[in-house]
Amino acid sequence: MAGQVEGKVALVTGGASGIGAAIVELLAQEGAIVVATDIDELNGPELAARLAKAGGKVIFLPQDVTSEERWIEVVGEVGKRYGRLDIMVSNAGIGVGAPSIVDMTLADWRRQTAINLDGVFLSVKHSLPLMRKHGGGSIIMMSSLAGLRGAANLAGYSATKGAVRLFAKSIAMECAQIGDGIRVNSVHPGIIDTPIWGKIPTAATGAGQNAPIDPEERARFATPLGRAGQAIEIAQGVLYLASDASRYVTGTELVIDGGMNAGGVVRTPQAR
Ligand SMILES: NC(=O)c1ccc[n+]([C@@H]2O[C@H](COP(=O)([O-])OP(=O)(O)OC[C@H]3O[C@@H](n4cnc5c(N)ncnc54)[C@H](O)[C@@H]3O)[C@@H](O)[C@H]2O)c1
Repeated sequence: MAGQVEGKVALVTGGASGIGAAIVELLAQEGAIVVATDIDELNGPELAARLAKAGGKVIFLPQDVTSEERWIEVVGEVGKRYGRLDIMVSNAGIGVGAPSIVDMTLADWRRQTAINLDGVFLSVKHSLPLMRKHGGGSIIMMSSLAGLRGAANLAGYSATKGAVRLFAKSIAMECAQIGDGIRVNSVHPGIIDTPIWGKIPTAATGAGQNAPIDPEERARFATPLGRAGQAIEIAQGVLYLASDASRYVTGTELVIDGGMNAGGVVRTPQAR
């Protein structure tokens, strides 16, 4: 049986770890040619080599999503190798926490915005022309539950993810207006068990202090389904948006959060 994205060419940013790595693996399993990019030049090539060994069509290209120069090179390389781009997953992102917004440095605010928002803008600006050449495709932007609801101590992060949500809708409208066959949607994960939680600096003083937040612990009470999500559970949603099964879906937001956005349930330690 053909895979759900058989023969399509996909580019996944932040593809070396967590959600991005799960997306790379699932799209490859479902028949796509996948270009995984990341600043992580250790885990990225390792993942691509492992998947290629198992029969997947996966390559890794080093890329910092904040560099416009590099975006031109990466999309140029995709065009040269495959002649087309069908799926763009703008997934790379970081989280910078601060005890209070007054503690957040402008440098941290700008670094986070550069990756989470400027990087997504550049992905769209430079992938659209190649996608349009071949009559369509699917752009998927990784937002967050924090792009739908406020999050104490993560105001800067929330601001970037909220912006990505409306950026996706606006690009969806531009593409629909032109009729270029490109669909654009955002994905909103809740608390997902990936390495990102160990990387969130709580002190925005530039000291780079890490708070080892345990996503499972955090999700147990905060999430109606009572557990953290797994990266593959986000990748399954991305696969749907990337595939033709979602051909009538554009400008929407896919929330995958164990019920957090819908409300809360009372859970006592005894009820666990
Ligand atoms: N894990 C969660 O609970 C959660 C929840 C909501 C949204 N998200 C979003 O999902 C996306 C993936 O996060 P994750 O949880 O897999 O985190 P992760 O830290 O495991 O993976 C993020 C990847 O992005 C890469 N990256 C960072 N800066 C980059 C840059 N400048 N250029 C290119 N790559 C860069 C990292 O090297 C890493 O491989 C992010 O956009 C994140 O904000 C995660």
